[in-house]
Amino acid sequence: MTALPRGTTAPQAQPGPVAGLLDNHGRRIDYLRLAITDRCNLRCRYCRPEEGVPFIPHPEILRFEELERLVRIFTTLGISKVRVTGGEPFSRRGCLDFLRRLKRIDRLQSLHVTTNGVKTARYLDELKEIGVAGINLSLDTLDPKRFWQITRRDYLAAVLETLYGALARNIPLKVNSVVLQDTSDQEILSLATLAEKHPITLRFIERMPFSGMTRVEEIINGDLSSRLQRIFPTITEEIQTITPTTARIFSIPGFKGKLGLIQGYSRLFCQRCNKVRITPAGMLKTCLYDDGALDLREFVRSGKTACEIGKEISKCINNRFVNGLAAEKACRREEEPSMSLIGG
Ligand code: GTP
Ligand code: 5AD
Ligand code: SF4
Repeated sequence: MTALPRGTTAPQAQPGPVAGLLDNHGRRIDYLRLAITDRCNLRCRYCRPEEGVPFIPHPEILRFEELERLVRIFTTLGISKVRVTGGEPFSRRGCLDFLRRLKRIDRLQSLHVTTNGVKTARYLDELKEIGVAGINLSLDTLDPKRFWQITRRDYLAAVLETLYGALARNIPLKVNSVVLQDTSDQEILSLATLAEKHPITLRFIERMPFSGMTRVEEIINGDLSSRLQRIFPTITEEIQTITPTTARIFSIPGFKGKLGLIQGYSRLFCQRCNKVRITPAGMLKTCLYDDGALDLREFVRSGKTACEIGKEISKCINNRFVNGLAAEKACRREEEPSMSLIGG
């Protein structure tokens, strides 16, 4: 837990059902990301080293009952959307049953999954039946050789089976593509054909400093927004007024789907941030770039009541950094944490 100052204390949450959970900067928090495991069957080079990062010992990972209890507490506070991530969520045995249990929580309006798609195809019928609101699939290239270079594994065919399987079942699908220093315009064009031919949102993502390795170079994706404008001259940005979101969305005439842009390194969307995270080890993070705000595992394992836990969570939400730049400045370390320990 960090004792660093987190900016001003400001408007308290208004009572009543409409206000929900407001943070100290007046942002409504209604989205919880739950990283259920640090294990993963890929080794994406922007996420973790080849040899992996040391696994969190099993007893230190929150049990499904503990996670479910926390989700229930969060929903009483105002969370209505949950995204299950990892590592790779389907690497954890029991993931599907866990999703089923979450779906039964009354106040939870939508349940989402982010997956690398390696093992997911076999679960698609059940995901559809459970009523998962959508799948976000990580896929950075359509070229098998480059897939190997990026992920250090040979599973492109399995990922594509998930992609086409989700489409065939009409499961809403977004594809996440991290843009690396050597991602060519040709690669961007070829990934974009997925959104041209299918009702998919293909989101290009700025690489962020979460590689699990020593911080060596600055991350320069250039201005991805002007790059997209140059590659797709007929692109138009959609105006999004209501839903807070990390992604800017673009349409292109003739495309069945859309393109998106997630500027998570530039951190242009922090003023609309509506989310908090729980790491596999049970740390509450109120910003992707912070060091952790509350050890929830200790709370759930020390016999605290839901009310006590809820109060501590609310306190953290009322003490958030104003944005990811401030969080990073306060918490920056020489070793970049691995995204697999955070969940994205
Ligand atoms: P939607 O619910 O579909 O909007 O998904 P999402 O974008 O919240 O989640 P997803 O798991 O698909 O993440 C896509 C990318 O956005 C990943 O690279 C995440 O690390 C990044 N991302 C998600 N939330 C944040 C955030 O709050 N800040 C930053 N900087 N990046 C984020
Ligand atoms: N920068 C940006 N996105 C990343 N992801 C993993 N590591 C990084 C990084 N360093 C993405 C994955 C996945 C999502 C959960 O986070 O591609 O789509
Ligand atoms: Fe696994 Fe996702 Fe990290 Fe790739 S980015 S190694 S798929 S956790």
